[in-house]
Amino acid sequence: MQSVLGTYNDKVVRQFAVMTVVWGIVGMLVGVFIAAQLYWPTLGEGIPWLGYGRLRPLHTNAVIFAFGGCALIATSLHVVQRTCHVRLFSDKLAAFVFWGWQLVIVAAAISLPLGWTQGKEYAELEWPIDILIAAVWVAYAVLFIGTIAKRRVKHIYVANWFYASFILAIALLHIVNNISIPAGLTKSYPVYSGAVDAMVQWWYGHNAVGFFLTAGFLGMMYYFVPKQAGRPVYSYRLSIVHFWALIAVYMWAGPHHLHYTALPDWVQSLGMVFSLILLAPSWGGAINGVLTLSGVWHKLRTDPILKFLIVAVSFYMIATFEGPMMSIKTVNSLSHYTDWTVGHVHAGALGWVAMISIGSIYALMPKLLGRNEMYSIKAIDTHFWLHTVGVVLYIASMWIAGVMQGLMWRATNDDGTLTYTFVESLNFTYPYYLIRFGGGVVILSGMCLMAWNVWRTWRTAAAIEAQPVLPVDASEVRA
Ligand code: HEM
Ligand code: HEM
Repeated sequence: MQSVLGTYNDKVVRQFAVMTVVWGIVGMLVGVFIAAQLYWPTLGEGIPWLGYGRLRPLHTNAVIFAFGGCALIATSLHVVQRTCHVRLFSDKLAAFVFWGWQLVIVAAAISLPLGWTQGKEYAELEWPIDILIAAVWVAYAVLFIGTIAKRRVKHIYVANWFYASFILAIALLHIVNNISIPAGLTKSYPVYSGAVDAMVQWWYGHNAVGFFLTAGFLGMMYYFVPKQAGRPVYSYRLSIVHFWALIAVYMWAGPHHLHYTALPDWVQSLGMVFSLILLAPSWGGAINGVLTLSGVWHKLRTDPILKFLIVAVSFYMIATFEGPMMSIKTVNSLSHYTDWTVGHVHAGALGWVAMISIGSIYALMPKLLGRNEMYSIKAIDTHFWLHTVGVVLYIASMWIAGVMQGLMWRATNDDGTLTYTFVESLNFTYPYYLIRFGGGVVILSGMCLMAWNVWRTWRTAAAIEAQPVLPVDASEVRA
């Protein structure tokens, strides 16, 4: 269908949306495999590229940057077009961002099992891939901000602010943390050293959580929750306060990853204080998302997509309550190095990040395929329950295991010797590793169900037509 305003570029959104499901399955499959290795440690023995140390970063990179990244890019490019009433700034740039990002993922999937790594968590990839990431990311920034610049409406909807901050912050973090001196094609050394290197790495690591795993997904929340609920955001004013408060505070909280290390004590305390302050904007924003359902709570009974979105926000509240508590130094002295951290991570990653992504892709996919809804609503509901049960099994087992490990490691006898050996604590942990593995299998089966549903929706879709750009009310038109 043609219109005087032209059509939207849905092709790139569709490509990223499909790859979200594909990489979600791959990344979670690797997660299930490494969870199995922690229970059956001889799994993959003798095959270097199946070693735990190589597959663990493959898992984190695949789920965060491939699965999460594709979900963020798909939704951001959809949201910016629909809320700005304009086609993407450049189709060529959009294609470059898609193929470039897939190339980065494939390069990661090959180089990490080969053992090429910088050894920095979440920044493992070696310098040639880092340069490619920087190029693709700058192209993505130009595409997104360029589209905002040519918008037809006066106002820039709040979701775009969150997406834009995520894009700009990740460019900054990635470039600064990866400045290094190459020593051959597959090896490099960071320009920073000692405590400075550690601080730069965790300034990056924490803000990767803050901007990649949080701000971008909040952009998703601010668009898809109101859309799916059929209601405006509960308080638009609060969403603006939420935005500025969140981005102002997050940057300072990184040192909570380095408690009781060589980092100056005052920097650790500063990180703790800012982490505690972070509770306020995090919960303010989450409550804004949940209260958007005021008056339409009954929809939760019949709409599994809305269930995904709202339960995601609830897990966000859990993770952002737990995080500030874990950043208190005395609490961290118990939780650090234990599986409690892994439980916290997955409350955020599987509860918040994965559920808001899955819900948003279910909401988006039919629109991209010219259908009213997904092929099977019942399958979405089943997926919701599989995912929820799996996440609860995962995080509850890791919480119990983590607190138990922390208590066992610090227990001492009257004469000052340790009450338990490390191996004893490991033995007590085993049953919980089995429960986590079970949770992972359940979650993965839900993702496979999603792939089937997307495939069926695609198969039964009418011919996919480009959708016309919608006109704007005269009062909202940008001069
Ligand atoms: C089927 C689902 C999943 C399973 C079974 C799984 C399993 C695991 C396992 C076994 C580890 C290693 C823990 C350790 O070293 O002790 C891990 C680490 C990690 N996973 Fe997952 N995972 C899943 C999904 C996800 C998703 C969807 C994300 C992100 C969106 C994610 C992000 C992470 C991160 C960031 C770490 C590193 C944690 C840390 O260093 O403390 N995982 N995962
Ligand atoms: C107010 C918000 C939050 C605060 C203050 C916070 C705080 C913390 C603290 C104190 C740790 C443990 C550091 C350690 O002992 O090593 C941690 C680890 C982590 N958190 Fe959070 N957290 C927050 C929200 C989130 C959310 C929403 C996610 C989303 C996925 C998340 C992902 C992670 C990851 C991936 C790690 C593990 C880092 C690593 O060691 O590899 N956090 N967080």
